[in-house]
Amino acid sequence: MKISSLKARQILDSRGNPTLEVDCTLENGIFARAGVPSGASIGSKEACELRDNDKEHFFGKGVKKAVYNVNSIIAPKIIGMNVLEQRKIDEFLISLDGTENKSNLGANAILGVSLAVCKAASICVGLPLFNYIGGVGANLLPVPFMNIVNGGVHANWQGADFQEYMIAPFGAKSFEESYEWGSEIYHSLKSVLKEKHYNVSVGDEGGFVPLVSSNEEPLDLISIAVKNAGLSVGKDVGFALDPASSEFYKNGKYILKTQKLELDSISMINYYEKLADNYPIVLLEDGLSEFDWDNWKILNKRLGKKIEIVGDDIFVTNLSIVKKGILDNIANAVLIKLNQIGTLSETIDVVNFARQHNWSCFVSHRSGETTDSFIADFVVGLGLGHIKTGAPARGERVAKYNQLLRIEELLGNSAVFAGKSIVKNNV
Ligand code: PGA
Ligand code: ZN
Repeated sequence: MKISSLKARQILDSRGNPTLEVDCTLENGIFARAGVPSGASIGSKEACELRDNDKEHFFGKGVKKAVYNVNSIIAPKIIGMNVLEQRKIDEFLISLDGTENKSNLGANAILGVSLAVCKAASICVGLPLFNYIGGVGANLLPVPFMNIVNGGVHANWQGADFQEYMIAPFGAKSFEESYEWGSEIYHSLKSVLKEKHYNVSVGDEGGFVPLVSSNEEPLDLISIAVKNAGLSVGKDVGFALDPASSEFYKNGKYILKTQKLELDSISMINYYEKLADNYPIVLLEDGLSEFDWDNWKILNKRLGKKIEIVGDDIFVTNLSIVKKGILDNIANAVLIKLNQIGTLSETIDVVNFARQHNWSCFVSHRSGETTDSFIADFVVGLGLGHIKTGAPARGERVAKYNQLLRIEELLGNSAVFAGKSIVKNNV
């Protein structure tokens, strides 16, 4: 059960930027590898992603320091530890770093180790990763929230101001069917865009980037695509938005370039309310900026009964911020991104606390990804019911969805698809 070696190296992520992967080997020869993702629309309080800032290499984006920290500082201390003691290892990593935001060793270095250890442990005990994480009861397959139109920073501000337009095919009877519907809608959307002479090139998460003239136009285009795929908008498929609005919040105003509008917070909330009235939107993530805390309360009051109000940049998977959010009643769900906090154990603490307070947890990839599919096992392990990991296209995105197919196959008749159970009442 003892760890015999840990080795990190610098690789490239899906955007072509450096990130790291970590190999963990046990004394009995068992071997596991974990890749670390990287975001573009980053919350200001996320744990520190350590980069070299050496302009001679990768324009400063190298992660050789983080690699060094794993190989030369962390590894010598972790070697010999029991791989099954995940929490002890995570706590040790946190204390070895010694800072509030993991800026000493780097949250990227620490997460790579934390996840590689977890994967090696699951192989060691002979359990599928989702069972190792969640136990014998783990059988809930999530609804895939597929991001099929990209905007904002993920599209170099070439398309809509809103960053993500997601479809949630919750009317399917299984994950497999839901994935198939998502893929059909994606291809059907491509045809709709071609017909209307829109660009069909894609953004960072594999979604299309049409040059729309408003932020609701993608919802109309997607509605046509759903119908053309022979499915029903609202009954079979719901919509979700991640405007990632911190990115277009300047001096107290939300700047919607595509519509030449500058909205104050209440007008922005009114705009979402109208969208929720007109479309089957079941989830709104980062509708308001992370610097607009008080107005989140109003947003949640106005829309929180009907739809999931998810905080990403505002909570950054950080337990103390989530606790404050629950006290202030500013949302009803938290986005879960392992690299925002940096260890598996701390992420699980956020999930447990949120659930104890009847909040839901929406598991997420990052816009810069590797082919690591850890989050697929994580979402089933903890039974969180929904996941977003981009379009049903591009290797690093489908790596996660494909792993969910395998898990569903493995579970056979014991698999339960979350379906409509995860949505409130806007459909
Ligand atoms: P990011 O975007 O990975 O670029 O931060 C994802 C999100 O905002 O949810
Ligand atoms: Zn987000």
